[in-house]
Amino acid sequence: MSQLDFIRALPKAELHVHIEGTFEPELMFAIAQRNQIEIPYKSVEEVKQAYNFHNLQSFLDIYYAGANVLIHEQDFYDLAWAYFEKCAQDKVVHTEMFFDPQTHTDRGIEFATVINGLQRACDVAKVKLGITSHLIMCFLRHLSEEAAFKTLEQALPYKEQIIGVGLDSSELGYPPSKFERVFAQAREEGFLIVAHAGEEGPAEYVWEALDLLKVNRIDHGVRSEEDPKLMARLVAEKMPLTVCPLSNLKLCVVDDMAKHNIRRLLQQGVHVTVNSDDPSYFGGYMNDNFIAITEALDLTTDELKQLAINSFEASFISREDKEKWISKIQNLVV
Ligand code: HPA
Ligand code: ZN
Repeated sequence: MSQLDFIRALPKAELHVHIEGTFEPELMFAIAQRNQIEIPYKSVEEVKQAYNFHNLQSFLDIYYAGANVLIHEQDFYDLAWAYFEKCAQDKVVHTEMFFDPQTHTDRGIEFATVINGLQRACDVAKVKLGITSHLIMCFLRHLSEEAAFKTLEQALPYKEQIIGVGLDSSELGYPPSKFERVFAQAREEGFLIVAHAGEEGPAEYVWEALDLLKVNRIDHGVRSEEDPKLMARLVAEKMPLTVCPLSNLKLCVVDDMAKHNIRRLLQQGVHVTVNSDDPSYFGGYMNDNFIAITEALDLTTDELKQLAINSFEASFISREDKEKWISKIQNLVV
């Protein structure tokens, strides 16, 4: 089997994908049209040309603008369903997707509209595609602590449908410590905890996510390598990092995929996983990410297997389901 076929055959779990970041320009145009909302682009080609980012903020500005056309429950369903179809193509058999409630509630869209649309797509994906999923809601860190508390309160009636709480948006200048109290309450309510840290922000933000937010996983975390003590802690605690290679390249976190540290992190015993982040904006879904690092870093099939095993180990599925997928990976013939 070629490396490419091996990647395609590997069952994978995706643990770091923003559902708003899977919004393909074609669907954005279709939904904008049916909702009669103007978007500042004339064509799909023009949208794609705008996807030229020099840092996280330059991407976020466009990403939030795109989400503005999502109004009705059906829009959220269509968005998530299109992503599930990509999962099926890439043998992503389980996904834990982020959504940003504040991006929508701040525009007057009901929390219920968002979650009901997403949940319905999750239910249909389970039946029609055999893909399992969890939803994780993220607080926007450039907004206030008070706004995060309000969002947490709005989520409580949907606690059974939301497995965890995360933290995303502009990282620099918005350390995890700003949200220590709201994450403490989220933990008390029984939510699992993740947070973006160490993407553009320093290793210090990863320490804060661990010590103050008490995360179950770190999203990105690639800058942890700058701090040997932090690296030792991540290894000792088997703390997962949900790494997003194409995202790091597009947002200039690395300037060349050949310089990406995912292989070094893996070799040093860090529990790294591969993810697509905002695949519509960054040029590829799960398998594109696997292919990009395999080509640039010369990954072996054993390393590919380890990355896929890590994705299930780091997921929020049951021990039994983890064992099921891990044994399938171990028995996959090369
Ligand atoms: N980082 C922070 N916030 C985000 C990202 C990201 O990569 N994608 C969507 N929101
Ligand atoms: Zn992200």
